[in-house]
Amino acid sequence: MALLDRAIVRVLPFVPRELVRRLASRYIAGPTLDDAVRVVRKLNAEGKLATIDVLGEEIRDGDAAREIALAYHRVFARIDDERLDSNVSIKLTALGLQLDEAMCRLHVEALVRDATERDNFVRIDMEDSSTTDATLRLYRDLRAAGHENVGVVLQARLRRTLADAQGLPNVRLCKGIYLEGPAIAYQDADEIRASFRATLATLFDQGSYVGIATHDEALIADALRQVRERGLRREQYEFQMLLGVRPERGDELVRDGHRLRVYVPFGEHWYEYALRRLQENPAIAGYAAADTLRRLRP
Ligand code: FDA
Repeated sequence: MALLDRAIVRVLPFVPRELVRRLASRYIAGPTLDDAVRVVRKLNAEGKLATIDVLGEEIRDGDAAREIALAYHRVFARIDDERLDSNVSIKLTALGLQLDEAMCRLHVEALVRDATERDNFVRIDMEDSSTTDATLRLYRDLRAAGHENVGVVLQARLRRTLADAQGLPNVRLCKGIYLEGPAIAYQDADEIRASFRATLATLFDQGSYVGIATHDEALIADALRQVRERGLRREQYEFQMLLGVRPERGDELVRDGHRLRVYVPFGEHWYEYALRRLQENPAIAGYAAADTLRRLRP
């Protein structure tokens, strides 16, 4: 990342919220479920699948967790009503993981039951390393209890990931957005890529269904090679991308016959997600500069 970009990334948390909202608008469907439905309908028309994320990570009490859980049940109902091709992605901290793990588990179980009844699916996002053990524990317990409509996420950045992959049947594999220390995480971009490739190979070797979640051309190319060499059918894996990131590359994957799922976040609590997306956008300095110029113009 260029020097100017790095400087802008550091000051982003001090940028006015309204500017952050505008800069990040391509990454977020909007504040309401109607916004998410509109975006997913368009993606489906383009031959893409979706996963809907209700934004919200800063919950302070059980009522807030219940609100998020209810919002997800409403999402499932709308997906059915509108006949959308979409599942959901949930964050355990938004369902109260750090307040009360047992309560969080009840919310997740109810959502997975709802998904099963509707022939849908719940993906459990992976958050920072303080939540990895609890997240994998809950996922393994759900599978052991016979719930098949649920998957988890692994982060190639973490040194433990290759070992964690053993025996997991349905995984989204990504680099990992949360910056972690060198004792537990690779710091070098090439090491993270090597971990991604090795974990993907392990998952494919054991027959897992993998959501290959990256916009990194080197990793997409490697995944395509692994898929080709193994002779996998298109139902055995999917590519995944974030809304607003490299959509033209997503179009190509679809044209080439691969399944592509787009992560569609919506909701009022957009700020943390928006900051993360802007911080990994290599052209953020350009956007910020252009925006500043526009605002300075009379
Ligand atoms: P990298 O960041 O190197 O990006 C590769 C290229 O993609 C860049 O050079 C640029 O061209 C483009 N690009 C990437 N981000 C961009 C942006 N914001 N704006 C513009 N261009 C951009 N993480 C996590 O810790 N837990 C999770 O549960 C998930 N879930 C998840 C779901 C899905 C569907 C995706 C695609 C990603 C996640 N992630 C995640 C995030 C993931 O860990 C990672 O931070 C991002 O995908 C960026 O990593 P890349 O592999 O794309 O590489």
